Amino acid sequence: MKVLLTGASKGIGEGIATFLGRSGHQLGLLARSEDGLRRVQENIHGEGGKAEIAPCDLRDHDGTASAIESMIQKMEGVDALINNAGLVIRKSAFEISLDEWHAMVETNINGLFYATRTVLPFLKEQGRGHIINISSISGHMPLSGGSGYAATKYAVTGFSDSLFLEVRGHGIKVTTIFPGSVDSQSHRHDPNEETDWKVRPEEVGEVCHQILSTRQTNLISHLEIRPLRKPS
Ligand SMILES: NC(=O)c1ccc[n+]([C@@H]2O[C@H](COP(=O)([O-])OP(=O)(O)OC[C@H]3O[C@@H](n4cnc5c(N)ncnc54)[C@H](OP(=O)(O)O)[C@@H]3O)[C@@H](O)[C@H]2O)c1
Repeated sequence: MKVLLTGASKGIGEGIATFLGRSGHQLGLLARSEDGLRRVQENIHGEGGKAEIAPCDLRDHDGTASAIESMIQKMEGVDALINNAGLVIRKSAFEISLDEWHAMVETNINGLFYATRTVLPFLKEQGRGHIINISSISGHMPLSGGSGYAATKYAVTGFSDSLFLEVRGHGIKVTTIFPGSVDSQSHRHDPNEETDWKVRPEEVGEVCHQILSTRQTNLISHLEIRPLRKPS
């Protein structure tokens, strides 16, 4: 499949790209860091996979739309968009600054919408396609000490579930993934932290592959992946 993936320069996005690249998907990778994207692309090419890159800032509507449209042209089509990019600022309502609040809203909600609205006409035209949105367990359960982050992830869940109702009649699938703790580098606050208990980024890629592999008439609409238990 031809799959566009946001937030592909590191973390969960890198894990998704790695797994999907190994599984034979043709990838269009997006994020701000060109160096990060190039590193992920080289690893995928090194394993015999296919990936194109397009640096863009999802907070900028026009830049995002033109990066995605040129990517679709280069890939000669698109079958799926995975909206993974997101900013995680875990601060309470007492602590979070206005700039931090706006940055999360602009990335996690606006950016996801800009990418989606750019891809939808292509999927509608061909009468099939798939949008996968990475929400979070904090997108359906309150997060004390992270109210702003949870607000953006509840928004992703609400948008995603409602979008499904709007596009299913056009043959377009929408899936919401709810990850628990995933071992992405940016979530390692202490370099000596034990991380084996966490979900691995590639394992989120594995579930994306499974979600993309259902028959056209079937849909996995929600999927939660989380560690079995946390260290005591
Ligand atoms: N890690 C977890 O435990 C966990 C749990 C549940 C849900 N999630 C969700 O999973 C997603 C990925 O999280 P992660 O842990 O992998 O975070 P991460 O390591 O910080 O990676 C975030 C990705 O998003 C990209 N990004 C951020 N702002 C962007 C912007 N303005 N424009 C374009 N790309 C942007 C980053 O690339 P650049 O910096 O190069 O732009 C990077 O590739 C997020 O939506 C997060 O909410 C994570």
